[in-house]
Amino acid sequence: MGLSSSSSNAKGTKGIPPGPWNPMTILNIPTSPAENLTEMSHYYGPVFSFRMPGSPLTVVLNNYTVIREALIDNAEAFPTRVTSPLRHSWGIKGRIFYSLGEDQKVIRKFVLDGLKDFQEGILFVKVSEEARHLCEAFDKEKGKGIETTNLLTLASGNIMSILNFGQRYDYNDERILKLMESFDYLHLALKPGNPVQQYPWLYDTFLYRQLKESQEYVKKFIKEEIKSHRATLDPANPRDFIDLYLMRIKGNDPDDLFNYERAWYTIKDVFSSSSNPSAAGLQWMIALVCRHQDMQEKIYQEVQAVIGNERLPAFSDLQKMPFTHAFMMEVLRFRTVVPFGTREVIRDVVIDGYLIPKGSRIYLNYWANERDPAIWNNPSEFNPERFLTPEKKNVVKNKYNIPLGMGHRDCMGQTLANMEMFLFGTNLIQKFRLTFSPDEPEPPLRGICGTVVVCEKFKLCASRR
Ligand code: HEM
Repeated sequence: MGLSSSSSNAKGTKGIPPGPWNPMTILNIPTSPAENLTEMSHYYGPVFSFRMPGSPLTVVLNNYTVIREALIDNAEAFPTRVTSPLRHSWGIKGRIFYSLGEDQKVIRKFVLDGLKDFQEGILFVKVSEEARHLCEAFDKEKGKGIETTNLLTLASGNIMSILNFGQRYDYNDERILKLMESFDYLHLALKPGNPVQQYPWLYDTFLYRQLKESQEYVKKFIKEEIKSHRATLDPANPRDFIDLYLMRIKGNDPDDLFNYERAWYTIKDVFSSSSNPSAAGLQWMIALVCRHQDMQEKIYQEVQAVIGNERLPAFSDLQKMPFTHAFMMEVLRFRTVVPFGTREVIRDVVIDGYLIPKGSRIYLNYWANERDPAIWNNPSEFNPERFLTPEKKNVVKNKYNIPLGMGHRDCMGQTLANMEMFLFGTNLIQKFRLTFSPDEPEPPLRGICGTVVVCEKFKLCASRR
């Protein structure tokens, strides 16, 4: 690979972080960003950098210590995410992902409060109902090969539809299928190293026509929902995030944070931050349950001991099911579904002794951290027991485990993500024995890496227990 010179030599630092200089190495990053950047970190160390001609320096932080040094010890230097064509075309005010200062605090609190209210209220019931719809869809196939990835994506997408639009959609509803497809495309198109990240002007060329079309579809879909919500809003009974948002609008001042024009992209951020990662987590969980039949049996035994067959799983059961809980934690470690966070640096800052100049772009490589041998014993092995106490009765948390990020922009949906994985997973395993379809190859563990690592499409057989 060859080291670039660490030549900045700012006083008292080791200079700019080392990294590859060969353009072919850099151009290869988007082929499989999580693996490629992690492999580079084995060569260059936990902090390395690269630069594409004509674009700012990109710095990759690859383990817990340096990620913490950035996001906790120097949080004010890393206030927002990397500029993307979305931000470039839509602005940042009101965006959950990009807003700054006081706006960021207000919009984050708006989402956290809304999630808390819905989680304590309707959400548990809705996730359980959706799990029932999913079981019915599995049942219809009568043990034949079921195309699973789309079903799980739609089931998880429905939770976000209920949360944002107040309704679920049938699994063959064309509108929701297209919405989920558009989000899938946006997540894939915006992966690290995609040239449009470095050269935003490319966004206006034919190369990114499909990206633009997907964005336009999402925008139109959400705007229509907002319009119909305005006509039927009852402030005494907010149904979803759109209602909560509409209730915060005070007037028509375009500078207000909550504003009719901007409503759609705050809602879009809530939807897209949650639906794709949750769907990916669910897909990996089901794929790993099929792959490890012995573990599926242990989860089934816990379901029998704690829930039985007469009633449906409740989220509170999770506390009494340590193996199932550890299995879910290991899924999110083993396939780190959000492999990177991104940040922009607003002042010169020193991390691990290296100078990171103002204006650099940062990748927080959560994927590398979740397979760092300094933290994890045999990291490439799928082993839920790493999250259990020796007597296997309780779950142990590991402070170095950060698949949901850290600091003031960490994941807001941890409880909901757990609720979905647990309720969808246990409802299915309570009723069915899940195996890969014998006529199809098993999905490779590598997955497809965009801003989310998704499992390749697979079919499974669900035979009634
Ligand atoms: C398995 C499921 C999920 C995983 C693995 C996951 C992971 C993450 C990670 C790693 C980040 C931080 C990225 C960074 O450092 O820039 C993040 C941010 C975020 N997540 Fe999740 N997430 C999941 C599900 C959800 C759900 C269900 C919601 C519900 C609304 C949600 C809402 C958010 C939001 C709003 C942010 C942005 C926070 C901010 O910028 O202040 N996530 N997620």
